[in-house]
Amino acid sequence: MAAIRVSHLVKRYPEKTAVDDISFEIGEGEFLVLVGPSGCGKTTTLRLLAGLEAPTSGGIYFGERCVNEIRPRDRNVAMVFQDYAVFPHMTVFENIAYGLRARHVPSKVIQERVSKAAATFRIDHLLRRKPRQLSGGERQRVALSRAMVRDADLYLYDEPLANLDAQLRHQAREDILTLHREKGKPSVYVTHDQSEAMAMGDRIAVMRAGKIEQIGTGAELYERPHNLFVAYFIGTPSINLFDVELVGENGGLWVRNQAFSLRLPPVLAERLHPYLGRTLKMGLRPEDLHVPRLAPFAVTEENQMKGVVNVIEPTATGCSVYLSTLEANPQDFVATFRTRLPAQYLGKEVPLAVHLEKAHFFHPETEQSLL
Ligand SMILES: Nc1ncnc2c1ncn2[C@@H]1O[C@H](COP(=O)(O)OP(=O)(O)O)[C@@H](O)[C@H]1O
Ligand SMILES: [Mg+2]
Repeated sequence: MAAIRVSHLVKRYPEKTAVDDISFEIGEGEFLVLVGPSGCGKTTTLRLLAGLEAPTSGGIYFGERCVNEIRPRDRNVAMVFQDYAVFPHMTVFENIAYGLRARHVPSKVIQERVSKAAATFRIDHLLRRKPRQLSGGERQRVALSRAMVRDADLYLYDEPLANLDAQLRHQAREDILTLHREKGKPSVYVTHDQSEAMAMGDRIAVMRAGKIEQIGTGAELYERPHNLFVAYFIGTPSINLFDVELVGENGGLWVRNQAFSLRLPPVLAERLHPYLGRTLKMGLRPEDLHVPRLAPFAVTEENQMKGVVNVIEPTATGCSVYLSTLEANPQDFVATFRTRLPAQYLGKEVPLAVHLEKAHFFHPETEQSLL
């Protein structure tokens, strides 16, 4: 049975439906990430789970029990807020201990837990200071420690790492996940950063305009996005999108536009046959465009396109190459390679092998996946 269940949850404000009929479950010990653009309803969802907002309709269940009518402090939820509210008049130690004192946990236990959390987040040398004597990143780690010392039934995190620099952010992600695994309790973590979601979530729920567009593992969202929004939101650089016409020729099915003509492999041809003659949106991930001689599949005239190299950007593992198609109205697209492309290719026309088996296709109006 799910540890937490949310059923047709709605939160409507006079001017705005912040959460618009969402349903999901969280397993015992699962780390669920909510990701989506600003204003899509992530914070509202967390506040509903915590009991800080009352739903307009729908139910929230902790195990079998509907908690809609249960006050926040009786839900036993620990939450890290986006603005990491810490009490300015209390020391770091007292800030971290706050939730435990409120629950009359014995002093000795408080001492142990605060020490452990502070050590994990590397603020153990700051326990006697007041928040104003701390950097933003240190204050953030106080707020994290305060949530993580608790024995809660549910942990909620609202973009807790947004204000940390890259190094600290990576470290803090690891620390949060380490403590999460030790506790084995359900957690919901909110971020607008898809790479953070991919790095942390057992499963990820992609939200847009108050709705959950898709929920699944990072690999599922990446490899089998249900719609164009999810395909575009997950992955960096973003998926390339082309309008293509589906054409039957030479006993095969081709996707064609001003810039290229590519023959679909049999599996895709069969799936897309009902759309013969239609214009579809095709998505190609940057890593599914290859230097022809390095492609992990047989390269022919029928699975190549061309582009002019505009920018070569080195990455840790190779490079991102920004190109334009060769047509009257050139379209920009990007390829990522596992090797460095020498600068001499700048401004040159290059062939690219397209891994068509990995292409995505979307309905031009509904933007739902056709695969
Ligand atoms: N208390 C409120 N009153 C009115 N509108 C609100 C309130 N809280 C949030 N909203 C609106 O609901 C939408 C979702 O907000 P929020 O959940 O904070 O989004 P996110 O955390 O994903 O950025 C936004 O349009 C926001 O302006
Ligand atoms: Mg928010």
